[in-house]
Amino acid sequence: MDHDSHKLGSSTRDDEIMFRKSIITPAPIHWLPSEEHESINESTLSWLMELGSMTRRFEQYCQKVTVMPYQEGFIDFIESADEKTCLPKSQRYWLREVVLCGDDIPWLLGRTLVPEETLTGEDRKLVNLRTVPLGRYLFQETTLSRDFIHIGQQNGYWLRRSRFQLSDKPLLLTEVFLPASPVYEK
Ligand code: PHB
Repeated sequence: MDHDSHKLGSSTRDDEIMFRKSIITPAPIHWLPSEEHESINESTLSWLMELGSMTRRFEQYCQKVTVMPYQEGFIDFIESADEKTCLPKSQRYWLREVVLCGDDIPWLLGRTLVPEETLTGEDRKLVNLRTVPLGRYLFQETTLSRDFIHIGQQNGYWLRRSRFQLSDKPLLLTEVFLPASPVYEK
């Protein structure tokens, strides 16, 4: 008898989700201090520092933007020390990882971490987004503010990390810009 499959089958609970490796590789990230921002070309910087919805910005460069969910669910702890320092400690965090496509071509990897304490009231809706772009929710909220955007590079690709507050409740969004995205257009 196949032991392993039996074990899996009998122990899987409804609320026990198997997570894949993060959509964002654990390769080192070089975060740029703000003094180095002036060395980035103007067009690239305007993408990285975009304050509005990235989905909306992308929509100006293709017919349709779509979200391909990669994984979503509650996790008990944050592995990355880097991310941990950006959020208050919580029993659980909502993790959402997606690929954002422009005309079906992957343009961006998105990883959102939301402490459970943020998911109160209306903001509980964040766990039901599935293929709805995060920005469609965030940028319609009048209670939204952004604490910071950190810009970096990983494996030669641009990425950024933003901490938002929804009615003073934090969430962390990391976005990796893939090579086919208009961010790299000359
Ligand atoms: C998401 O839906 O999770 C999402 C969408 C656009 C982004 C980042 C994340 O730029």
